[in-house]
Order: sequence, then structure tokens, then C-alpha cells
Amino acid sequence: MNDDRLPSVATPLPTELVRLTECEGGPVLVRGARVVVDVQGVTHPVTRPVVALCRCGSSQRLPWCDGVHKRLGKAPHS
Ligand code: FES
Repeated sequence: MNDDRLPSVATPLPTELVRLTECEGGPVLVRGARVVVDVQGVTHPVTRPVVALCRCGSSQRLPWCDGVHKRLGKAPHS
């Protein structure tokens, strides 16, 4: 019996680690990810080894941090 809702047995499991580092008062650094899926479900390809995700919500390049949190002195969402 084959259930199409389940991943195929042939589908490889992810073997790479993704590391998250919280920067106090700033973004979360993400190392090792290939994509980031935002809260709307939009998939953003990751093209660099390390990317910074905005936690303050004020970036003009969401989901990426553009550094505006430094000017605003805005505390990131927890
Ligand atoms: S955390 Fe850097 S712009 Fe939002």
C-alpha cells in the first residue's frame, strides 16, 4: 500500500546541520541552511554560508536583517 501523503522511502533525510546563533539586540545568524521559509510560507533560497534573519520586524529586506535594528535601538521579538 502506497500513501502519497508520506515521504517516499527513497527520499533522503537531511544530513546537514543548521546552526542558529542569537545575536543580542539583533538578528539570528543561520549557518548551513539552504532555504528559509518565512511566516507567509514563502521560500527564500539561501546563497551564502551564513545569513542573518531579522527579529525586529523593521528590515526593508525581510526576512533578512538589513542592520536597521542598530539605528532604531529596537529590541528584537523573542
Ligand atoms: S534584526 Fe536587524 S533589521 Fe531587524
